[in-house]
Amino acid sequence: NDSAKEKLIRVHEESAELFHHILLNTTIGEEALEYLTQRGLTREVIDTFNIGFAPRERTMLHQYLVGKNYEQELLKKTGLFVEKDSGELLDRFYNRIIFPIRNQQGKTVAFSGRIFQQDADDSAPKYLNSPETQLFNKRTVLFNFDLARPSIRREKEVILFEGFMDVIGAWKAGITNGIASMGTSLTNEQIHLIDRTTDHVIIAYDGDSAGIEATKRASDLLAAETNFDIDIIRFAEGMDPDEYIKKNGADAFKELIAHGRETLFGFKMSYYRKSLNLSNESERLGYIEKILSELLSVTSAVERELYFKQLATEFDLSIDSLKEQFQQKFHESR
Ligand code: UTP
Ligand code: MN
Ligand code: MN
Ligand code: MN
Ligand code: MN
Repeated sequence: NDSAKEKLIRVHEESAELFHHILLNTTIGEEALEYLTQRGLTREVIDTFNIGFAPRERTMLHQYLVGKNYEQELLKKTGLFVEKDSGELLDRFYNRIIFPIRNQQGKTVAFSGRIFQQDADDSAPKYLNSPETQLFNKRTVLFNFDLARPSIRREKEVILFEGFMDVIGAWKAGITNGIASMGTSLTNEQIHLIDRTTDHVIIAYDGDSAGIEATKRASDLLAAETNFDIDIIRFAEGMDPDEYIKKNGADAFKELIAHGRETLFGFKMSYYRKSLNLSNESERLGYIEKILSELLSVTSAVERELYFKQLATEFDLSIDSLKEQFQQKFHESR
């Protein structure tokens, strides 16, 4: 006599196994497997993440679970079906590659399904996710947190990616302390989960403008919580970590993760700069003001010294005048 939650988890685990089996061992899974292989996934990685395929036929999962004597009322609560007016349940996920989403205990609590065919409907989302259920509150889940936790502890840092394929690509390249916020902006619940495991977060979001804005938001949220050390890894416009690995290889990626970090302050300098016309004097002064305010939260005197020098050189100002203005701000802020 399992609790309702345990039953829901069992349904998810059995569904995941079925999807995984269909992907690897059946002819209906061949095209999806070919797609994943093209994207560089190996059999080992597919197994580690228990990736699967949900076929075109929208009654497959339902029939399978009914055959295992699960009741209709329970199945409705899984989020894995959509109910027709007639009361009939149709599989929510069909003709998609399936990524199981596990909670921090390693239990599968939701799925995300990716469209992969050329002829796919344009209006359909690229990734379709499970709805909120008794098991799945997406604000509280970080993709791969369970598998990443030992390496997060060992490395004393976590790498925060945007998407599933970034985490998986990094894992294959040997970087196993990666997790993903799954596209949505980072939540306080997710931050507290991270906080219990490490105080050092490396944000490695996509290089497009959405990724840059998300980096700014995530770093602001993290910085609002005390004690996080934050570094940023930036990718060229239009490139994400997974694409970087595909283009440049695992060694280049590891090198980037190890030595290609930008400080949060450095990121903010270029973030604020890009929207400004610095040949305009008032914009330039506004920018210097902004940067000096940001410097208030840089606690290392050595690091501050470095930025004073950088600013002084860049804007042809004396270090002393910058420091004077900084001191003034410092006193105002107390
Ligand atoms: P991206 O659009 O950057 O996708 O969204 P991706 O991770 O690079 O995916 P691939 O490489 O094309 O397969 C980042 C993340 O946002 C969530 C997913 O978690 C995705 O990995 N997302 C994106 C959704 O939930 N739904 C969507 O329709 C798109
Ligand atoms: Mn640290
Ligand atoms: Mn993106
Ligand atoms: Mn991406
Ligand atoms: Mn991608």
